[in-house]
Amino acid sequence: MSNPSLLILPGDGIGPEVMTEVTKIIDWYGAKGGLKFDVTMDLVGGCAYDKHGTPLTDETMAKAQDVDAVLLGAVGGPKYDNLDFSVKPERGLLRLRKEMDLYANLRPAQCFDALADFSSLKKDVVAGLDLMIVRELTAGVYFGEPRGIFEEGNERVGINTQRYTESEIDRVARSAFELARKRDNKVTSVEKANVMESGILWREVVQKVRDEDYPDVELNHMYADNCAMQLVRAPKQFDVIVTDNLFGDILSDCAAMLTGSLGMLPSASLGAPMANGRPKALYEPVHGSAPDIAGQGKANPIACILSFAMALRYSFDQGAEATRLEQAVEKVLADGLRTADLLGEEGVKPVSTSEMGDAIVAALDASL
Ligand code: NAD
Ligand code: IPM
Ligand code: MN
Repeated sequence: MSNPSLLILPGDGIGPEVMTEVTKIIDWYGAKGGLKFDVTMDLVGGCAYDKHGTPLTDETMAKAQDVDAVLLGAVGGPKYDNLDFSVKPERGLLRLRKEMDLYANLRPAQCFDALADFSSLKKDVVAGLDLMIVRELTAGVYFGEPRGIFEEGNERVGINTQRYTESEIDRVARSAFELARKRDNKVTSVEKANVMESGILWREVVQKVRDEDYPDVELNHMYADNCAMQLVRAPKQFDVIVTDNLFGDILSDCAAMLTGSLGMLPSASLGAPMANGRPKALYEPVHGSAPDIAGQGKANPIACILSFAMALRYSFDQGAEATRLEQAVEKVLADGLRTADLLGEEGVKPVSTSEMGDAIVAALDASL
């Protein structure tokens, strides 16, 4: 049987820096961990625009549809700020999500014990935190029509449309309930049904899915503004949060800081099962291309490495290996190793991006 296939798209800014560390992990699995992958590298984002005049070529799109999983670093940067909207780096990522129909974006926020003191919140508030945000990723205001900048009278108007069909809400709700059953069996559905019709429909459909097919799962509804407040007040009240594309984007950056740094948060974007039974899947850190620290060896590669752990779990049915990798990360943090984003406490050891990757590989070695 052939090896599972991976398409790696490092992207821009710190994307290639953190992805280099992931390739060390992939190489380790090939050489010592008994898991070989067929890896193809390609371009997405600003680097693809520089070479091809588009942030994602049709060829790369076709490859992404064909592989068992895509790993992506990050896209974007100030160099591309003035490009036409249609060829901005972010359009490449959004095309991948849309055309692969990756409707369920899993963004887990876990506070490792070693970082509980480092959070900007009190240790008691975040210690032991383990929540999962399920962000709808292929619809909502990111994709709704009409959209654009139009002339209206003697001025211009910018328009985006929040749009959700019942089936789009139904399928992501099911993903959230399925996940909850494997966790603490509790879902919080987040919208603004008090001001948005799409929020009213969201609430109704999620409740119906729960009542008809997941009566064993506890469900509560919360407005998005309150949810943002509750995330910093008492985040441990949450198990699974299911929400729309835009609220999920914002709430997941907020949740990131509960773990100590945006550089810690991985994600899995999952679609329907392919012919081989694996879900269509793309794995990427929640953070962006971090232009302010790019090229300086300061980036934390853990979010990207933990995204690969999610690939092991959700695409390759290697839950035990995913746990091994997560424990290797936990071990280096417990040993006091910290990239620049996590410095500030006494007694920790500052390391570069690449030293962090090497230390995680060494911890994998030690786990055998
Ligand atoms: P960002 O996530 O790139 O950075 C926000 C802050 O977090 C910066 O101070 C950065 O240094 C820090 N940070 C992020 N990742 C880090 C890491 N791994 N280690 C240490 N520090 C880290 O967000 P931004 O500055 O708003 O956006 C920069 C560019 O990235 C924009 O073009 C944006 O569109 C793009 N972006 C891309 C993605 C993606 O590719 N998935 C996600 C978010 C933003
Ligand atoms: C994310 C990013 C993207 C989003 C951008 C880069 C398109 O912020 O993945 O969180 O808004 O979804
Ligand atoms: Mn974001």
